[in-house]
Formats: sequence, C-alpha cells, structure tokens
Amino acid sequence: MINIAVLGLGTVGGGVAEVVEKNQAEIKKALGDNLHVKYILDIREIPGAVKDINVIVNDPDIKVICETMGGKEPAYTYTHLALEHGISVCTSNKELVDAHGVELSAIAREHNCSYLFEASVGGGIPVLRALRESCGHEKISYIAGILNGTCNYILTNMKNGTDFSEALKEAQGKGFAERNPAADVEGHDTARKIAILASLVSGKKFSYEQIECEGITKITQEDFIEADKNGMSIKLLGVYDAENNNVNVAPYLVPKTNPLYGVNDVFNGILVKGNQVDNLMFYGRGAGKLPTASAVVSDVIECAKNIGKNINNNFADLPEAAINKMPENNSGYKFRVLS
Ligand code: HSE
Repeated sequence: MINIAVLGLGTVGGGVAEVVEKNQAEIKKALGDNLHVKYILDIREIPGAVKDINVIVNDPDIKVICETMGGKEPAYTYTHLALEHGISVCTSNKELVDAHGVELSAIAREHNCSYLFEASVGGGIPVLRALRESCGHEKISYIAGILNGTCNYILTNMKNGTDFSEALKEAQGKGFAERNPAADVEGHDTARKIAILASLVSGKKFSYEQIECEGITKITQEDFIEADKNGMSIKLLGVYDAENNNVNVAPYLVPKTNPLYGVNDVFNGILVKGNQVDNLMFYGRGAGKLPTASAVVSDVIECAKNIGKNINNNFADLPEAAINKMPENNSGYKFRVLS
C-alpha cells in the first residue's frame, strides 16, 4: 500500500480523494499496489484533517503528496519541505509551477524524488506527459492552446447569446473558475499555462510576467456576429511561436478549418507542431473537479512507481528565456487571425 497526503481539500483536492476511492481497482492495475489517502491537510475545521505539515513530512509512511492548495503560499513552503524530506509532490498549482517550478524541480532531483504538475495545464488532458515522453525527441516549433476552461465556457455561451457576467457566474458555480476569476478572464491563467508548455518544450524558462497578455473582457456580442459572418469564432489562445521567439495570450479569430474552432464549453484544445510528427491535437476537459483530479492521480501513480528516483520533468536548471515582442496585428480585423 502506498500512503499519500492531500494538501487542500478544495475542488481538486476533494476530487483526488474521490478518484482514489472510486478507481481503486484501476489504480491497483496501473500501479501494482493500492493508494491510500492517509492525511488531508486543510486550514479549515474538517473532521480528520490535520493542520500541521510537519505531521505529514515526518511520517515515513508518506511517499507522495498532492499539493492542491493553489496560490504561492503556503504551497511553496510546504512543497519545499516535502521535497527536502524526499517526498514527491504532484500538483495542479500552475501559479507555483510558473513562479518556482525550476527551483522546486532541482530540489526534487537533489533529494531523489519528483515534482510533477500534469494537472497544472489542460485539466484532465495528459499533455505534459505526452510532450515530455512521447515527443521528447521532437523539435516543437509552435503551440496554440485554448487553455482556460472558464474563458472558453464564457465565450461559447456569449456566442450563443448569454451575457458575460451570467456565463461567468455559471462557470463559477460549476467549480471551473479561480478563487479570483480575474486570473481567468484577464488571461493570466492562460499565460501561466502557455509559459509552462513553452518552457517544457523549449529548454528555456518562460515566465508569466514576460508574456504580453490580453483577456476576454473587451469582447462584445457584435464581435461574435462579425466573426461568424467571416466563418470564424473567437477563442482566447496562449501561443508559443519558436520561430519568432514569442509567447503571447490574446483573443484570436479561429477559422472553421482549424481544429480549435470546434473546442467549446469547458473543453481545452492544444495544437502542437513537431518537426517530424507535424500537427498534434490534444483535447479534453480543461477544468473541473474529477478531470483535474484524474491528472493529479496520474502523476501520483508515476511517482509511486519511481520511489527513491527522480523523474525528469524537463524543468530543473532551465535558463531564463528572452522573449520578443508580439507580432503586429495585420489581419485587418479587431483580433489576430490564427493561421
Ligand atoms: N480556472 C481554471 C480554468 C481551472 O478555468 O481553466 C483549471 O486550471
């Protein structure tokens, strides 16, 4: 039996406990052993939950921790402490991965454990593992991703006539949005996710702060009508363009012929171009309790199969990337057109 701890019993943390419980038989098949949630840490009064991280990191039974707290602190301090104790950490915390992922990955390597963050990008889509493992030999020149489930949910509903604030309220009710939904609608969450993807495939650390970023708050119903007349839809994209050394986040017009056109509601789509494999398209639920938890559990299984070893996550020792300005919008439309 592999004992784990879950830090933060919010949407994703609660989902992890549920997936471990409901998919016991499948987990046993994948791992060759059972997973057991021995501790839950939460600052709130929850029966059975602990409040002191030291109880967890000093328990030699604990092999893997799921950090599903979100935000920088205390997630950073707790992750640091766990890795120093040789305990692997699996997280959905894109803010922390963007800000401290390089440092935490180096600490994991030093202590023969792992820092994995599949759930930080694309919710349930196993895109990081696929890029890291199946495409590790590819030269990736381009990524365009619908990376925020909340924004895509809002844009899909606005296209169908619902107003912005109503659609945002629905997304919050479904557990898709961030605690502060400005991170979703201003594009910051997408910026963190495309920064993680670009860093993973380029060997250079792109950071959210460097990225030119426009969200979805200025999009109007008229823009949807105009886009539709021209056979396009409006999507918030994170784009990595290796040739122009640029990473950006902005609303784009996506033509019907592009596979991202049909990615609607909470779904995410990530289009990747490799120099040998050519175009790949990843698609799945980009937010929500169980899909995101499923991605966390996939990392837990990988860590549990590699206890005492470091899994190379492509993040340790990345040098800072320099980034060029975003190319001009020469499309003749209000928004850039995805080519
Ligand atoms: N608020 C995020 C989203 C959650 O809507 O995509 C998943 O990272």
